[in-house]
Amino acid sequence: MRAVDELRLALAPTRRDGRTIGLVPTMGALHDGHLSLIGRARRECDLVVVSLFVNPAQFDERADLERYPRSERRDAELAAGAGADVLFAPPVEEVYAPGFATAVEVRGLSDRLEGAVRGAEHFRGVCTIVAKLLGMALPDIAYFGQKDAQQLAVIRRMVADLNLPVRVQACPTVREPDGLAMSSRNAHLAGEQRTRALALSQSLQAAARAAAAGERSREALLETARTAMHERGVEPEYVELADPDTLAPCDELAHEALLLVAARIGETRLIDNALLRPAFAPASALRALPRQPHSRKAFA
Ligand code: PAJ
Repeated sequence: MRAVDELRLALAPTRRDGRTIGLVPTMGALHDGHLSLIGRARRECDLVVVSLFVNPAQFDERADLERYPRSERRDAELAAGAGADVLFAPPVEEVYAPGFATAVEVRGLSDRLEGAVRGAEHFRGVCTIVAKLLGMALPDIAYFGQKDAQQLAVIRRMVADLNLPVRVQACPTVREPDGLAMSSRNAHLAGEQRTRALALSQSLQAAARAAAAGERSREALLETARTAMHERGVEPEYVELADPDTLAPCDELAHEALLLVAARIGETRLIDNALLRPAFAPASALRALPRQPHSRKAFA
């Protein structure tokens, strides 16, 4: 489906009958992470819409936009297989008609971390397209991955601030068996880069182990994560311990906090995060803690 009018027409009977609509916004190149969102929408909603739109407005680097993997036919099959009823894949002109002049901006939250590296236009682009997609499909529930934790926080803020009548449902990060968070950009990782990319999830695991052993100090946790990345020959773009909702930096791990990491592996920019919980064990127990093997559920 390409046109907004067509989408509205297709959804009207469901809405009229008081049945629920779920929306899963994506940029395509679908992987198991996307499919887990679609599967959850399938279980929770009567009608599932998956949108597929590589949104030019949120790309800060032209090269990243140009080489973003595209595979619409395959995506259509995967989405349907995971339970999508409608695949909405509009062309750029349908989304940004001539004269388009509006932007949605969540101040503050959008300036940090990803916003600081990618520029203010990134989250402005994300918020504008998500607000538009919510307006087009008018879903009861919209599904987003915890993998993009800052995006999730920004969207929650936007939905609350604009009184948008939708429930935002967060879904856990789906990982490869060795811990690498699934991402459309992983397709760019060749050979040795794929191995080095493990630096991100391993740094999170190292910090999670330290937190489980009682470490609460911000600097110690960040240093643990940085060291794990350096051990794999990766220089992080940022490593941050922040409040999951406001993304304000945490001085210590007093409550649950997000550890967020970003790094470039060659040309490919990757991000990952994990929720850390404070433990009651003393930090001295850290040294006695064995290294644990990776598992798919490492940070679930
Ligand atoms: P995209 O990167 O295609 O991701 C679509 C959705 O899938 C997002 O909510 C993202 O957080 C989720 N996702 C990606 N990888 C995941 C993983 N490994 N596990 C679980 N969920 C995962 O994020 C975007 O597109 C765009 O910014 C969008 C919201 C569609 C707006 O253009």
